[in-house]
Amino acid sequence: MALSLRKIACIGAGYVGGPTMAVIADRCPDIDVTVLDLNAERIAAWNSEDLPVYEPGLAEVVSRARGRNLRFVGQAEGAAYVAAADAVFISVNTPTKTEGEGAGKASDLRYVESCARFIAAHATGHTIVIEKSTMPVRAADCVKSILATARPGVTFDILSNPEFLAEGTAIRDLEQPDRVLIGGERPESIAALAEIYRRWVPAERILSTGLWSAELSKLVANAFLAQRVSSINSISALCEVTGADVEEVAAVVGADSRIGPKFLRASVGFGGSCFQKDLLSLIYISESYGLTEVAAYWQQVVDLNQWQKRRFADLIAAPIADGAGSLRGRRIAILGFAFKKDTNDVRETPAIDVCRRLLARGATLAVHDYRVTPESVRSELGALGVEVAATPEAALAGADGVAVLTEWSAYATLDWARLAGRLKVGAVIHDGRNILDAAAVRRAGLTLRSIGRGAQPNA
Ligand code: UDX
Ligand code: UDX
Repeated sequence: MALSLRKIACIGAGYVGGPTMAVIADRCPDIDVTVLDLNAERIAAWNSEDLPVYEPGLAEVVSRARGRNLRFVGQAEGAAYVAAADAVFISVNTPTKTEGEGAGKASDLRYVESCARFIAAHATGHTIVIEKSTMPVRAADCVKSILATARPGVTFDILSNPEFLAEGTAIRDLEQPDRVLIGGERPESIAALAEIYRRWVPAERILSTGLWSAELSKLVANAFLAQRVSSINSISALCEVTGADVEEVAAVVGADSRIGPKFLRASVGFGGSCFQKDLLSLIYISESYGLTEVAAYWQQVVDLNQWQKRRFADLIAAPIADGAGSLRGRRIAILGFAFKKDTNDVRETPAIDVCRRLLARGATLAVHDYRVTPESVRSELGALGVEVAATPEAALAGADGVAVLTEWSAYATLDWARLAGRLKVGAVIHDGRNILDAAAVRRAGLTLRSIGRGAQPNA
């Protein structure tokens, strides 16, 4: 008899687990969906009007399904739902290890392992365990060996179903994915999960592979995307010294259908919880198989990104540093702290490295962001020398320099003619996302430096 998944549970109510389960529940009203999390505060927020994750469209999806076939519960209460579930997704974080073997590179699987132990302890009958978290290739072996400790008669099958959503567009990405990937060993388990996605995803977009290919494909997809950003960022530096314009170069290069136009926006650097972590994981795996050249190749994508952030911070400092290179007494407005627009997420945001480098040289920062909370900014930067501004106008008051670090749409329409008077005379605007209207900024009598463009005519 074909397997049918009527009750599902998901451990981890984060940026991935919460929105993914909300969309499944929304699209499949007959499937009972429970999301568990160890963090009681997070669960309380998922049950409130003030969701813990900011994503356009998420609140509407949650409000349609929550209380109908979607619930958010703490870990203890969740045990009974895991026991009753036909399938359990693991969607906990897999950060880079900070200690032990592989520290600084390998992904830390301790949360995944503890989920596997939890599932082994509570599952009943036959349960499909689905890796949603990004895992190193062959991680399913480790999950399998933990599940093997379950009571006799309790059986499992493992699938890898990595998530490709990007923050800020998570709901759209979940509702209209380029592809859904399901890796596994047993066709009936793959078919059962595919049946859920088939409710709204065309069959030809549901790809099925072996377990190891699925695990590796997620890492490789993120590595390729990050590589494009580092590639164009490397060219941005070359454009600045030669007088070429990186936007023009990217448009020409991207017009080749073999290359394509997306993901060629030069920037202050890529951020987010995935790109660096997944690159480092790929590097570590390559090294551990003795593939030194492969590891070195991908390491360069990470290194270039670090260099771009340092380079950008130094460009901000250059016109205002004193003879000894100090920024003491200088106030710099930071417009945007999130790692990209339309999210409140600051994990690995390039703003952290840029700001820390400026603070280390003695600058005072006035940080503005539309969604990031003052607590998040302070927990990354500390309070010393850091002011969190409620509006862009407040951040700009008395600034010696300005840096746009997140491409929030509202920054693109700031009225520079009105704002110019708030800045110190001679303040330079550094556009780390190339979103400002260069002509409008120049008309306001201000000097603009963009990523990948030589000095502007009035600079
Ligand atoms: C996800 C993926 O799982 C990760 O592998 C991928 O690379 C990025 O996206 P994400 O949803 O962004 O992670 O992580 P996060 O927002 O930190 O959410 C994870 C949640 O799991 C947290 O709310 C945490 O409290 C919870 N958790 C963690 C548990 O409930 N149990 C645990 O044992 C560990
Ligand atoms: C990424 C992948 O896109 C997604 O498929 C995967 O599931 C998780 O990792 P995310 O990190 O949420 O998603 O956002 P993404 O849109 O990929 O942006 C990552 C970083 O690259 C951001 O800091 C963004 O500003 C930067 N970026 C992206 C650029 O600097 N230039 C670009 O052209 C594109």
